[in-house]
Amino acid sequence: MLTESQQIKIQKLLSTMTLEEKVGQLHQCGPSLVGAFQVSFDELLNMMFDGRISEEEFGKLISTAHRDFHEEDLRAGLIGSYNGVNDASTANRLQKIAVEETRLGIPLLFGYDVVHGFRTVTPIPLAEACAWEPELWEETARMAAKEATAAGIHMTFAPMVDVGKDARWGRVSEGAGEDVYLTARYGMAKVTGFQTADPAAQDSMAACVKHFAGYGAVEAGRDYNRVDMSLQKLYEEYLPPYKACIEAGARAVMPAFNDINGIPCTVNKWLLQDILRKEWKFDGMTVSDANAIAECVEHGIAADHREAAMQALLAGMEMDMGSCVYKEHIQSLIEEGRIDEDILDQAVSDVLQVKMELGLFDHPYQTTALREEQEILKPEYRAVARKAAVKSIVLLKNENVLPLNKATKVGIVGSLAKDKAEMLGAWAIAGNGNDCISIVDAVEQHQVSYGFLEGIIDGKVDVEGLEGMAKSCDMFLFVTGENKDESGEAASRADITLKTEQLALLEVLKGFDKPIVTVLFNGRPLAIPETVKWSDVLVEAWHPGVEAGNAIYDILFGNANPSAKLTMTFPDKTGQCPMYYAHINTGRPGGKSKFTSRYLDAPNEPLFPFGFGLSYTNYEYSGLTVKKTENAFCVEAEITNTGKWDGEEIVQCYVRDLAASRVRPVKQLKAFSKIKLCAGETKKILFQISFDSLGFYDREMKYIVEPGEFEVFVGGNSVDCMSVTVRLEQYEIPAGMREKQ
Ligand code: GLC
Repeated sequence: MLTESQQIKIQKLLSTMTLEEKVGQLHQCGPSLVGAFQVSFDELLNMMFDGRISEEEFGKLISTAHRDFHEEDLRAGLIGSYNGVNDASTANRLQKIAVEETRLGIPLLFGYDVVHGFRTVTPIPLAEACAWEPELWEETARMAAKEATAAGIHMTFAPMVDVGKDARWGRVSEGAGEDVYLTARYGMAKVTGFQTADPAAQDSMAACVKHFAGYGAVEAGRDYNRVDMSLQKLYEEYLPPYKACIEAGARAVMPAFNDINGIPCTVNKWLLQDILRKEWKFDGMTVSDANAIAECVEHGIAADHREAAMQALLAGMEMDMGSCVYKEHIQSLIEEGRIDEDILDQAVSDVLQVKMELGLFDHPYQTTALREEQEILKPEYRAVARKAAVKSIVLLKNENVLPLNKATKVGIVGSLAKDKAEMLGAWAIAGNGNDCISIVDAVEQHQVSYGFLEGIIDGKVDVEGLEGMAKSCDMFLFVTGENKDESGEAASRADITLKTEQLALLEVLKGFDKPIVTVLFNGRPLAIPETVKWSDVLVEAWHPGVEAGNAIYDILFGNANPSAKLTMTFPDKTGQCPMYYAHINTGRPGGKSKFTSRYLDAPNEPLFPFGFGLSYTNYEYSGLTVKKTENAFCVEAEITNTGKWDGEEIVQCYVRDLAASRVRPVKQLKAFSKIKLCAGETKKILFQISFDSLGFYDREMKYIVEPGEFEVFVGGNSVDCMSVTVRLEQYEIPAGMREKQ
C-alpha cells in the first residue's frame, strides 16, 4: 500500500504526462528478434514451422539475432515495460534510457515468466504440488525471486492457478492440479514467496496471478478454446484460487485468453471490474496475455484492432502485452472522445502505483551484473531444487522392488534417461538443459553399475540390443513419458497414452522376466493401464528440473522415502477426460445394472485417484471423531507408521454434503496436513473445518450453508478414507458472506 505522499507524487506525475506518455505506460514491449531476415520472432517461428528455414537455422538465428528493444520508442517515452529481458546488463541499459533520457524519467517494469524457477529450474508446478507442502512452495518461489531479480526482473507472470481437471490440456503442467482448495493454497504460498511482505526489496518481485479466469476449463481440453459454465460452477470450482492470491497480496492479474460464456476475459468488464475490483477490491494492475487484446478480433467480439483496444481499456484491461493496439489506437480514441481520459488515467495510475510499490522510482537499478553472477545457480539453490524434486516424485506402484540395493546392475532403457534438456519441463524459458542432471549422469556419479540403450532405433524396438543388456543386468530401468514440449502452452493432446513404440519396447522388456522399474517424465496425467500392468514399479517423476537425476537416484536407491501424492486424477482412457475426484454422484452412480452412468469400454474408477501416492512404509488410520463447535467441525484421527521406514504422510480431510438444494460433489478437500512419523510412531491429527467453508451458491447465486447431514472423510488419498456422518443444525453465515465472494 502506498503512502499518502507517494500517491500525491503519482497524481502530480500523471498531471504532467502527455497523452502519448500515458499510453506509453500501458505498452509492454516484447523484444523482437531481428536477425538476417529482419523479421519478428513470431515470423521467424512461422518460417520454421512451414519449413522455409530448418530448426538448426532457427536456433542459430535466435542465438545470434540482435534483440531489438525499440530504443527510439523508449527514448520518446512510448514504452512502459518489457517482457523477455532476462539479464542485468540489458535491464540496466534500458532502465538508464528510461530514467535518464526520457522527458519524465519514469522507470521501466521488467516482466518475465518465472513459473518454476528462473535458472535453477525446479519441478514443474504439477509436480511440486504433489508435495502438498506450502512451506516448500514458498521456499522455491523465494529462491526463484532471488535469482530472477538478480537478472533484472521485477514481476513474474506467475503463479498460474488455473484449476485443471482435463489431462488433455497441456497447461495442467503449469498449475497445481484439479482441486480448487489445494490450488488456492499453492497460489498463496507462491505469491508470498515471490513478493514477501516487502515488494520493494531488491530480491522481491511482483506476482502476476494468471490466467483470470477459468482457463483450465477450456472445452475438450483444447488450448485457447471456449469456456462456458454456470456461474455457480465458476464461483465454486474455478475463481477461489485467483481470489486467494489477491488476498495474499498479488500486485498484478493476467486475464486469460479464453472467453467466459461468450465474452473474452480480456474485454470482460464483469470479470475485470465487477468481480476483480468491486467484489474482491483488487488495487493492483492488470496485464494482458500475449497479443490477447489484438486477438479479440479473431474471437469475433471486435471488428478491428481499434475496436478491440477500446473494449479492452473500457473493460479494465490495463497493460497491453505485445499486441501494440494500445500504442496504435488509444490516443486517437481519447482525442475523438470515444474513451474518457479519466479511464486512461486510472489505468496509468495503477501501473505507476505498482512501479512505486516495487521501489522502482527510488531504486530503478535493482541489480548489477556482479550480483547476477553471484546469484545464479548457487549450490544451495541446487540443494533446494533436489529437495523439491524428491518431494514431488510420486511412487505409484512398487512390487517390493524398491528401494534398490546399491550393488544392483541396472539396465537403463529410454532416451529420456540421458536427455538433460527434457528435464526442464514446460515454461522454463531461462533454464539451460546443460545445467540438468540426467538419470544417466546420476548413476554415473553414484558409481552404480549400469548399461544404457535408447531402446528404439529408426522407430523400431532394438530387440538385439536389449537381449544383450538382459544378459548382464539385474533389472531394467525403463524411462519414458513425454518430451517437455508435449505439455505447457499450445500442447493439448487428444490421446494421452504412451507412444506405440514405447509400449512395444516395454512389452519386449517384459519378456525378459526381470524386474522393471518404469520412470515417467511427463507434464500431465497419462492413460497408461498397460504400463501399470507390465511394470513392477511405477515412479511418476514429472519434469523435475535441474536436479532430476539426483532426485530420482535418491528415491530409487532409498536415500529418501517417497511421500508425494497426486493432485490430478489419472484416467484409464483418454475418453474419460475430464476425470476428477470431486464429481457429482448422478442419479445412477454405478452398481451391477447396465443402466448406470458408465462407459462400455472403460471402468468408472481412475487408474490412480487424486491424493494417491505410495511410500516405503505403511500408514494406518484410526480413531476418527468429529465434534462440533460454534462454527466448525473439529475432526480428529490417529495415524500410525506401521512399517520400518521413517516417513512423511499427507493426511487429507474431505467433506460431502449428503443432501442439499443443489447437488454437491461426492467429496471435497477441505484440509490437509503433512506429518512426519518415525517407524512405529502414532500421531493424532486435528482439522478445523469451518461451517463457512461448507457453503455453495444457490439458484440466485447467494452463498449459503444449509443444515443437514455431512459425511467427513480422513485418509491418505481420495478413495481410501475413514468417514463419519454428522449433522449440522441451522447455521447463519456471517453477514456479507451471502453475496458473491
Ligand atoms: C503466454 C502465456 C502466458 C505468459 C505470456 C507471457 O502466451 O499464455 O502464461 O505469461 O505468454 O510470456
